[in-house]
Amino acid sequence: MVKIAPSILSADFANLERDIHRIAAADYVHVDVMDGMFVPNITIGIPVVRSIRPVTDLPLDVHLMIVQPGRYVEQFCDAGADLVTVHVEADTEEAIHQAIAKIHAKGKRAGVVLKPATPAEAVLPFLEEVELGVVMTVEPGFGGQSFMADMMPKVAAIRSWIDEKNPGCELEVDGGVAPDTCGQCIEAGANVLVAGSAVYKAEDIPARIAQLRCGR
Ligand code: DX5
Ligand code: ZN
Repeated sequence: MVKIAPSILSADFANLERDIHRIAAADYVHVDVMDGMFVPNITIGIPVVRSIRPVTDLPLDVHLMIVQPGRYVEQFCDAGADLVTVHVEADTEEAIHQAIAKIHAKGKRAGVVLKPATPAEAVLPFLEEVELGVVMTVEPGFGGQSFMADMMPKVAAIRSWIDEKNPGCELEVDGGVAPDTCGQCIEAGANVLVAGSAVYKAEDIPARIAQLRCGR
């Protein structure tokens, strides 16, 4: 079944608990962490993850858009992250392997994320050791951008490698997912859809989550 991970980047941070309760019909809470270096924006960090952990039973999918993410993955796990994803572009291959090992040592699920310009093959050194692969369908940094349909061949390629090498691994798309773009993501092989503005701008949030889940 397709899973929906609303991004709280589009929530009202002054009413974060209310806005997390509004997405109770979803499967994950997607938390976008930005450091102003890896991406040109600064959002939220460890104290916010710690504060939202007790207000929901949903797993927290923490997307680290920070340089050298291995420096902080353990702190995010301790704060209550269930899945921690790191960008392959954010450090050396060896350091990314070490970051994944640190997440696993904390008993949490690990994932790797690819920016739009990063080729699908960049996932291969990590594919057999992660629980989640993520294809960015916008340039990371901001919510509300236009979906990049030209990322669908990358999703399809990674789906075929997952089926072959690590069938339990999930495949997430992140950025610009909305009712008119979710179908092609599912078609290409994604099973987790991140959606920020499409969820939080909806008048009926549970209905929008159901709509994205069925791909139209
Ligand atoms: C972008 C973030 C996304 C973003 C998604 O850097 O990683 O998770 O918040 O927002 P929408 O769905 O509005 O593109
Ligand atoms: Zn994200």
